[in-house]
This record gives sequence, C-alpha cells and structure tokens, in this order.
Amino acid sequence: MTTRIDGDAVAADIRDSLAQSIETLRENDVTPGLATVLMSDDPASETYVSMKQRDCREVGINGIHVEIDTDAPADELYETIEDLNGDPEVHGILVQMPLVEQVDTRRVLRSVDPLKDVDGFHPENVGRLVAGHDRYRPCTPHGVQKLFEAYDIETEGADVVIVGRSNIVGKPLANLLVQKADDGNATVTVCHSRTKDLAKKTRGADIVVAAAGRAEFIDAEMIREGATVIDVGINRVDADTEKGYELVGDVAYDRVAEKAGAITPVPGGVGPMTRAMLLYNTVKAASLQTDIDVSLP
Ligand SMILES: NC(=O)c1ccc[n+]([C@@H]2O[C@H](COP(=O)([O-])OP(=O)(O)OC[C@H]3O[C@@H](n4cnc5c(N)ncnc54)[C@H](OP(=O)(O)O)[C@@H]3O)[C@@H](O)[C@H]2O)c1
Repeated sequence: MTTRIDGDAVAADIRDSLAQSIETLRENDVTPGLATVLMSDDPASETYVSMKQRDCREVGINGIHVEIDTDAPADELYETIEDLNGDPEVHGILVQMPLVEQVDTRRVLRSVDPLKDVDGFHPENVGRLVAGHDRYRPCTPHGVQKLFEAYDIETEGADVVIVGRSNIVGKPLANLLVQKADDGNATVTVCHSRTKDLAKKTRGADIVVAAAGRAEFIDAEMIREGATVIDVGINRVDADTEKGYELVGDVAYDRVAEKAGAITPVPGGVGPMTRAMLLYNTVKAASLQTDIDVSLP
C-alpha cells in the first residue's frame, strides 16, 4: 500500500500549533508582523503573495504588503527594505522572487536584516545553516523535513537523491539532510541538468526529492520499489480547464504511486508546507526579536 503524504493536513496541524504560540506573544503585547514586498507583474508571484497574506490573517499574524511599480528605480526597493528593517512592528520580511531586471537580486538578499530574513536566504543565514547553527530554515526544505517527521520517514542512513540544486530548494535541503542531527544523517546526492545517467542515481535512492521544474519527468522506471518520493515541482501545463492550465508536479504521480512506498501529491503535498513554514519562521522571528519564548511545532 502506498502512503499518500497529505501536506494539507500536516500544514493545518502546524498552523494550529502556531496559533497558540501567537496567542502567547499577544498576551505579551506582541503581534508578529510579516511584510511581503512585490516588485513584479508575474501572475504566479502575485498569487503566491496574496496566499501568504491570507495565511497570515488566518493565524493572527499582522500582514503588511508593499507593492512597488515594476518601472520604478531599484533604489525604491532598497529603501523600502531599509524602512522595513527599521520598523519594530515588522518581524519578518519576504521579498517575492523573481524581481524585475533593474534590481540586483543579490543586493536584495544581503540587505534584508538577517534577523528578519524569514526566507533564510541572507548569506549569514545560509552560512549558519551549512555550519549547523541555523536560525531560519528555508521554508520549502524545512517543510519537506516536517513531512518526513509527520510520516516517520527515517532519514538517518537513507540514500537521498535530490534532483535540482537551486538556492531555495535543492542546496539547502541537501545541507539540512547531511547534518549530524536526528532530522538529518542522510547520505545525499544532488543532481542537476549536467548529471550523467540521472535514472541510475534516482533508482538507487531510498528517498527521491524532485525539484527541477520539469512537468512529470520523474517516471516509474526511475524509482526503486517502496521508495519515498517527494515532489516539490509546480508546473503549469495547458489543460481544458477554466484557467486554460493545470498544475502538475515533476513526478508522473499515477505511475510512480504504484511503485513508491510513500509519495506527495501536487497540489496538496509540499506547497502547503512551504506556506506553513513561512508562518513558523515569522513566529520564530517575533520571538527572537522580543525575547519572548514560545514553543514551536
Ligand atoms: N512546492 C513549493 O512550495 C515550491 C517551492 C519552490 C519551488 N517550487 C517548484 O519547484 C521546482 C524547482 O524550483 P527551483 O526554484 O528550485 O527551480 P530552479 O531554480 O529552476 O532549479 C531547477 C533545478 O533543476 C535542475 N534541472 C532542470 N532540468 C533538469 C533535468 N532534466 N535533469 C536534472 N536536473 C534538472 C536544474 O539544473 P541546473 O542547475 O544545471 O540548471 C536546477 O538545478 C519548480 O517547479 C518550482 O515551481 C515549489
């Protein structure tokens, strides 16, 4: 029997626990605040930001949204970040990527106050994560770890193959899973577009994490019988729906599910976890900045 890993349910449990931590903060006159900054007219980015704002409202986080005209000079974004860095009501800052061309993305990543960097992308936080004293784990990899925990999927000693080496998914997940820690201790292989014989690598894995952004390209013959398959991919493919497209993962779900021991669906797998872990980091940020201890799920 294949286990369908239900990210919606795990994320809902995390949000419930966070709501209690937020209550503790509020009893101490602190309302966690998350600022989202959008400088893009990409419809997917607009959707992501509005979902993040809605999530905030639902758990009692104060959501602040700043939208910057896509024609504005880059300085306007840099100054906005400075203002938010100095605003005591804002505990977390999320600048939605990708940004417009005139902006230096690396400068943006460096200019968010590391204590407010709830995405975990500031070089200081990346370094902390690699060294094993992490402050904010990037939301998607952290969400994947929480799925392993919720479903008792052992990473210790497991051969994990991650397909994708981006700074937001593949690399931080690899760094987390190789840590000498209860939620790490895996043997990790990171694959990318130049990897030779990808299928041979994935077939040897106890756990495959697909994060390449290629619709349904991980198929059943690439997976070992009983393996755990985590599908991070979100791809729009043309479909006869109201919107004219549907969202599919990087994994050919129906065929792979017949062989896998456990598998995440798309939607309803990693996506809701990413959103929940952003709330987690925002609550943690508020706690760190106010010295009020809260328990985190
Ligand atoms: N569920 C969520 O919450 C969530 C969060 C973030 C991202 N995503 C989704 O996850 C996917 C990956 O996102 P990302 O930002 O990490 O993407 P990205 O920056 O485009 O990175 C994609 C990675 O996949 C590798 N790759 C591409 N084609 C490949 C192939 N045929 N074989 C092996 N490796 C290949 C690339 O290799 P090179 O480095 O050699 O180019 C790159 O390392 C996207 O679909 C994105 O929408 C979902």
